[in-house]
Amino acid sequence: MAPHASSAPACEPGTDPSFDADSPVGALLALCHQHQLQPWSLKGRRLLPVVQGGMGVGVSAGGLAGAVARLGAMGTISSVDLRRKHADLFEQTRHLEHEPDAKQRIDAANLEALAREIRRARELAAGQGVIAVNIMKALSEYEAYVRQALACGVDALVVGAGLPLDLPDLAREHPATALIPILSDARGVQLLVRKWEKKGRLPDAVIIEHPRLAGGHLGAARVTDLQDPRFDFEVVLPQVQAFFQSADLEREIPLIVAGGIGRQEDLRRWQSMGAAAVQMGTAFAVTEECDADPAFKRVLAQARPPWSEPLRVRTSTNTSVPSRSRMIRST
Ligand SMILES: Cc1cc2nc3c(=O)[nH]c(=O)nc-3n(C[C@H](O)[C@H](O)[C@H](O)COP(=O)(O)O)c2cc1C
Repeated sequence: MAPHASSAPACEPGTDPSFDADSPVGALLALCHQHQLQPWSLKGRRLLPVVQGGMGVGVSAGGLAGAVARLGAMGTISSVDLRRKHADLFEQTRHLEHEPDAKQRIDAANLEALAREIRRARELAAGQGVIAVNIMKALSEYEAYVRQALACGVDALVVGAGLPLDLPDLAREHPATALIPILSDARGVQLLVRKWEKKGRLPDAVIIEHPRLAGGHLGAARVTDLQDPRFDFEVVLPQVQAFFQSADLEREIPLIVAGGIGRQEDLRRWQSMGAAAVQMGTAFAVTEECDADPAFKRVLAQARPPWSEPLRVRTSTNTSVPSRSRMIRST
């Protein structure tokens, strides 16, 4: 199959007028070129083909997202419970659990924390890359988070853990913000694109997250569905491309695959099958720039197989969809 046609042209140091080999972004683009990897484009911005996925409860906040964007890629802030990252906001809300207005005050603190993290990411990014905010549709605060991220002028909204059929309505006044749903199979992509088309907006990219391979909340309604071959990238990519061709869409939609990806060969393989980029979570969770507690990163970085349990999938209490975590033991 032909490589993804909507990717930006391969970065060729000798022919690309915007190429500055002395900058960190230029050096990384040159490395891509050297290894036959293609950059991709989101709303006209050329990006490295590795996306940092949103990781909840403070694992990816403004620090990680900003550091990734600064290097010319898409960095993603997860919107979940960010008040914990801000001593003043956490102090104001930590004892509220039994107050009648606890939820409103906790939500307000989280919205303020989201605005602060977006500002921080933008400062760190210094105009490079893309800053995205990841919001889970299944959360009751979903709409408030979407409105806050849009009001803060974030570059992209990434929505998973549910079908965000209402996102074009919520973002109607924000045509410059890229809208990126997370889906897991071709049927979901087809349904969403058809519904969004009727609202006059196409996704600016689609993340295809494999429910069995990815960490976090999963795009399957039941734990038993995780083994279904319809989620395999080898199946989803050609099916979605066939749908795009038959649908005669006004422009191409970049596809980003996510789940269990960690090597350059994976990236080359999925690009050769039509993906524009790959999204990684766990690999970024152990970086120095990651916003998680150092103890969490240390345990994750030192974890070695055999895992005490290979996979633990349970239904998440905050979203009621299956989510995956791994029991790890450090060596
Ligand atoms: C600790 C952790 C938290 C995550 N939290 C979220 C989240 O809040 N929302 C979401 O859409 N995806 C979440 N994810 C999924 C990631 O964005 C990404 O798609 C996934 O980690 C890719 O799989 P990988 O970890 O094998 O690279 C999370 C992943 C991890 C590891």
